[in-house]
Amino acid sequence: MKGEILKLLKETDGYVSGQELCRRFGVSRTAVWKVMNQLKEEGYEIEAVRNRGYALKGSADVLSAEEIMSSIHTEWAGRQVVYFDETDSTNIQARRLAEQKAPHGTLVVADRQNGGRGRRGRGWTSPSGVGIWMSLVLRPKISPASASMLTLVAALSVREGIEKETGLLAGIKWPNDLVLNGKKICGILTEMSTELMEIQYVVPGIGINVNQTEFPDEIKETAASLYLESGKIWKRSGLIAAIMEAFEKNYDIFLETGDMSGLMEEYNQYLVNRGKEVCVLAPQGEYRAMADGINREGSLLVTRADGTREEIISGEVSVRGIYGYV
Ligand code: BTN
Repeated sequence: MKGEILKLLKETDGYVSGQELCRRFGVSRTAVWKVMNQLKEEGYEIEAVRNRGYALKGSADVLSAEEIMSSIHTEWAGRQVVYFDETDSTNIQARRLAEQKAPHGTLVVADRQNGGRGRRGRGWTSPSGVGIWMSLVLRPKISPASASMLTLVAALSVREGIEKETGLLAGIKWPNDLVLNGKKICGILTEMSTELMEIQYVVPGIGINVNQTEFPDEIKETAASLYLESGKIWKRSGLIAAIMEAFEKNYDIFLETGDMSGLMEEYNQYLVNRGKEVCVLAPQGEYRAMADGINREGSLLVTRADGTREEIISGEVSVRGIYGYV
């Protein structure tokens, strides 16, 4: 009931009478009053006026299943939310839920991760109250070879969601980091399970640095948060909702062709590596090349000094800027 009351308060411009709430939810005035107190304790600013009822005047950066669900307006992406105040890793939890038949679109969110995982076996710093640590359960009917493109779809959607919600224009560092002013604000780790060459599920795990004021020494040269780059504190639930809406739209565009054809142009528009010299970290050795943009398969096309073109497949090879991270 708390979630539904919250949703109603959010949707109402003005006051909702106590009587109306009692009637709708079939509960007593005391029960409604208790829910209002709970919401206030969680950080919602609720005004109660005699003879008019209750109105939601604002809220702190609250993160809970009810808050996220009442913010998301999608068909399937994030319609089911599993929320943890603390967990090991939302990717681990999403995979566990997917094994237990969680539906396509289930979103797992944590306020804090004590075993956050990054790419290449690295960890991911995930403190409480400041970041978005979330993983989505997807069940696409595509070949396993195409699944890595979903990471690019996720990167594009996070970029779009951030712009819609904050106006900040992040760039994409191929394949799936988001950067603001040359520093990393978001990383994505996509994991997949297949059986007999068929995808059981794909889990893109998204980590976004939202309101951090500082970073540990090991990453402070390359990491940033939306707060540090804009000077403003942002509401995580609003960002999550905007990202889910963008993801749902982009996922459908991706499924139309099963590749990046419909999203390639937008992706390349925001690609920070584009037209820049990058260092390609290939297993056979490093080399320098000019990054041209991605192709339909999501591979990065680069041109070497001797004019030869190479296609770099995401997940196999990584690139970094020659003067630093970007
Ligand atoms: C990277 O190394 O750039 C990828 C980082 C991915 C971090 C996110 S946070 C939510 C999800 N859960 C994890 O344990 N990792 C991903």
